[in-house]
Amino acid sequence: MTVLGIESSCDECAAAVVLDGRRVVSSVIATQIERHAEYNGVVPEIASRLHTEWIGDVVARALDDAEFTMSQVDGIAVTSKPGLAGSLLVGVSFAKALAWSTSTPFVGVNHVLAHLYAPLLSEDVDYPFIGLIVSGGHTLICRADGFDDITVLGTTIDDAMGEAFDKVAKHYNLGYPGGAAIDKLARIGNAAACSFPSAHLYKGDHRYDVSYSGIKTAAIRQLDQFWNPAFERSNENIAAAFEKAAVDMMVSRLLRAMDDTGLKTLVVGGGVAANTYLRERLARRHDLRCLFPPLELCGDNAAMVAGLGYHLLARGDRDDLTLNASPRVVGFKRAV
Ligand code: KG4
Ligand code: ZN
Repeated sequence: MTVLGIESSCDECAAAVVLDGRRVVSSVIATQIERHAEYNGVVPEIASRLHTEWIGDVVARALDDAEFTMSQVDGIAVTSKPGLAGSLLVGVSFAKALAWSTSTPFVGVNHVLAHLYAPLLSEDVDYPFIGLIVSGGHTLICRADGFDDITVLGTTIDDAMGEAFDKVAKHYNLGYPGGAAIDKLARIGNAAACSFPSAHLYKGDHRYDVSYSGIKTAAIRQLDQFWNPAFERSNENIAAAFEKAAVDMMVSRLLRAMDDTGLKTLVVGGGVAANTYLRERLARRHDLRCLFPPLELCGDNAAMVAGLGYHLLARGDRDDLTLNASPRVVGFKRAV
């Protein structure tokens, strides 16, 4: 089955052609990063306007690169939630119009689940496994029992993991987007320059929850308190120390979840899955199988949307022209 995927939930305008949920024949990602860089963050109004301008060309290019025409496409999968409302609406409206005008079945896809599917485009994995979705907007540790059946074990009680990277980078003017900038600087910095306190969660919080606002605030406002005076106060040292604190906290919760459940496979998705130190730390655990997407499929892309969409379409899921964009994350079960 040939599926055309469309993604426009944030600041990447993307389309891809994927065969049987596995073979990525084409993947076009038009990033708006440069257009938002001067504001140090995504401006929703600019994002949706650019999607409107670009989406026709992006979809045409994905079909062109794959050497397919719409008559060879069996289904369309489009990100319909969650994300920026105006941006999502562009992809959803475009997909509906394309599906209607070409009589092609289509289905709305959850962007969070699509991130978790990204590594599965190229690897066979048995369920259940532990999933980690970490991006600018999401931080979820879950148990996955199927491609659209997850139970949330842990989440952040405040900032998303990527958001904390972005805010620290913004404060020190390290570059945009912040996560990639910190990753790059951290490679030449020394994490021992600063020891941030590990976050203590409130009694009522879950065993696998994380908190990033404490580390973020410590990195931004209380650096003096935790700085080791033997080290130079350089951007690369700040980046390395912050990255280590943020990743170590996540890895401790992940390993706890894997120990408790006895599950040995971990699947990671989302922009922060590109982080070098996170990948290295988990690669050291030879007793676990840790799957990451290739770097180009960590951030937002349409191949993951088409991949997950294939499974939905194959079991008969269809949407109709009433499909709407929904900005919020709703509907995931939470383990008690
Ligand atoms: O999945 P994504 O492209 O968009 C969302 O759905 O949010 O994730 C973007 C997030 C940003 O917060 C960005 O700073 C972070 O992923 N990110 C990274 C790295 N590359 C991107 N964080 C840490 N290390 C990286 N190498
Ligand atoms: Zn995303």
